[in-house]
Amino acid sequence: PLAATGELVGGAAAVRSAVAAFNVITLEHIEAVVAGAEAACAPVVLQVSENAVKFRYGRLLPLARAAVAAAERAAVPVALHLDHVQREDLLRQAADAGFSSVMYDASRLPYAENLATTRAAADWAHAQGLWVEAELGEVGGKDGRPPLDAHAPGARTDPREAHAFVTASGVDALAVAVGNAHAMTERTAALDHDLVKRLADALDVPLVLHGSSGVPDGELTQAVAGGIAKVNVGTALNAAMTGAIRAFLAARPEAVDSRTYLSVGREAMVAEVTRLIGVIGTP
Ligand code: G3H
Ligand code: ZN
Repeated sequence: PLAATGELVGGAAAVRSAVAAFNVITLEHIEAVVAGAEAACAPVVLQVSENAVKFRYGRLLPLARAAVAAAERAAVPVALHLDHVQREDLLRQAADAGFSSVMYDASRLPYAENLATTRAAADWAHAQGLWVEAELGEVGGKDGRPPLDAHAPGARTDPREAHAFVTASGVDALAVAVGNAHAMTERTAALDHDLVKRLADALDVPLVLHGSSGVPDGELTQAVAGGIAKVNVGTALNAAMTGAIRAFLAARPEAVDSRTYLSVGREAMVAEVTRLIGVIGTP
């Protein structure tokens, strides 16, 4: 059934576990995330990013409708989340479509502007009943920019600044920069686990890990133990899908029916979703 992100993340955080949140781009992604979560008997968050909306001719509704339909008939709780949003009109579209949460991302801005715009967005979103995630300390590798800056000193979230930011903005969860980066195709990230613990101690809201595709399994488990309660995964699903389709088409160059390779891609994503939920350890 359709669930609320805040309840899933809050429930996981209360027992030092985490909910996996997967970015979806196509209908096959949506079906695979639901099937993978059902196989793992675990709740899951389906998230649509502003970039995915851009790919869908700028429209959220077609994918949102598909996500709602898939969530409603799922055997496990499925929450819908709007990810990395800068376009404010999308906040309204998400609320109207049945999403329970949004991530408003002004992390590219200097602290004061990030705080001011996030606070305004959070006030509006809260009035619509939405759970709000924000980001402080920019997680690199967005919009095709190189993911290499994750280890630059300025790219880490400072616990004291994070406490002030959460208090002043009123957000419900915070995405943190702790050595993670977006769009990594190898699992080579080395997280700063001491910083994860210090952030968890400093904040009363759940911590969110972005760029989790680049994080090795053991590091993910350790990050959840340290206080990460929502684990965002995007690239790993694309890698699974594209790799499976590439291999299928190489072996079957005469294939024409799109269902032959889309089903192979979808199955590869189902397996990766189930595997990652097992690593992350949702109760
Ligand atoms: O918000 C989305 C996630 O941070 C996905 O990052 O594609 O590197 O796994 P990833
Ligand atoms: Zn992200």
